[in-house]
Amino acid sequence: MNYKVPFVNPAKQYQNLKKEILSVFDNVLSKGDLILREDGEKFEKSIADFIGVKYAVALNSGTDALFLALKAANIGPGDEVITVSHTFVASIAVIVNCGAKPVLVEVKDDFTMDIDKIEAAITGETKAIIPVHLNGRVCEMDKIMAIAGKHNLIVIEDAAQALGAKYQNKMAGSFGLVGCFSLYPFKILGCFGDGGILTTDDEKIAEKARLLRDHGQKTKTEIVCFGWNSRLDNVQAAFLNVKIKYLKEWIDRRREIAAIYNNGLKDIQGIELPASPNSDEKHFDVYQNYVLKAGKRDELSAFLKEKGVETLIKDPIANHQQPGLGLSHFNLPYSEKLAREVISLPMYPELNQEQIEYVIESVKKFYC
Ligand SMILES: Cc1ncc(COP(=O)(O)O)c(C=O)c1O
Repeated sequence: MNYKVPFVNPAKQYQNLKKEILSVFDNVLSKGDLILREDGEKFEKSIADFIGVKYAVALNSGTDALFLALKAANIGPGDEVITVSHTFVASIAVIVNCGAKPVLVEVKDDFTMDIDKIEAAITGETKAIIPVHLNGRVCEMDKIMAIAGKHNLIVIEDAAQALGAKYQNKMAGSFGLVGCFSLYPFKILGCFGDGGILTTDDEKIAEKARLLRDHGQKTKTEIVCFGWNSRLDNVQAAFLNVKIKYLKEWIDRRREIAAIYNNGLKDIQGIELPASPNSDEKHFDVYQNYVLKAGKRDELSAFLKEKGVETLIKDPIANHQQPGLGLSHFNLPYSEKLAREVISLPMYPELNQEQIEYVIESVKKFYC
């Protein structure tokens, strides 16, 4: 279907950057610099500087950033890790995949981890907390770090959706032992394919993650542990080195669009909007997703589709209620309610004013 306002528009971004992208593509391929080369190192340095940490390790996905973070922190069988159900399933999958047990807690009405629920979930086996900065809003990290400190727990931030987001003026990915970001194409900063990166101030964690992403190869001849192939392609890093120049501009634009949406939609009964940019001095949100809680959500989505506005209902079934995942022992009524109510509107820097206004008018038409 040809939407008047598509949910994402990667082709438009490519058109805007085409000259620069084709030039680096030609440059990298002409040199034959494909695996673990200079462009990757340059990208790692840019991200470490941007987040304000000592190290960044470029990887093939946000999922492997989380997985290798857990492995590098020696989390495995017999350990419990606390995270939320209301997230992309990867946040939970990595815990299971490293042999540990996920313990799921509720989120608050801004979709961040409910800090009042954490301590009740801690047992003698708990080793780590994975707070998820969903939709580009950072969890209450001061409180999470305090709880973790009190109980001697590791914190691994799932910042997959939060590159550039801040809490109390500090960047997502700089609070915990490790921060994990996704560079999936539709993220705030995305590859033309999959990618991810982890950030840390801990030299040993960075070293271990570098080994684990490359089959434990310390040098060409020395293998010091078993690992995986989780490397970011050098050509993708070169593309990211182009795109990162626009990161601040893109974040500002996302915040601007969120403000226009919020202003246009504020008087509608039946929907709940995300917090506006600058509405609370602790949070600097980057609006990876613009998510409404909507009564008659499925009808709204169908109506918008008819009007040519593409929306996303990502997880209509809460993760812990997915029959195949073995998590149905968790009772998380608020997360279940959110699964029935949330809907994402188009949100990307390339949206134009006419499209934004059209989305607002179309939502208004449905409810008014
Ligand atoms: C909250 C969250 N965690 C983890 C991931 C996994 O990242 P990736 O898709 O790059 O593996 C995503 C990706 O969408 C995500 O949104």
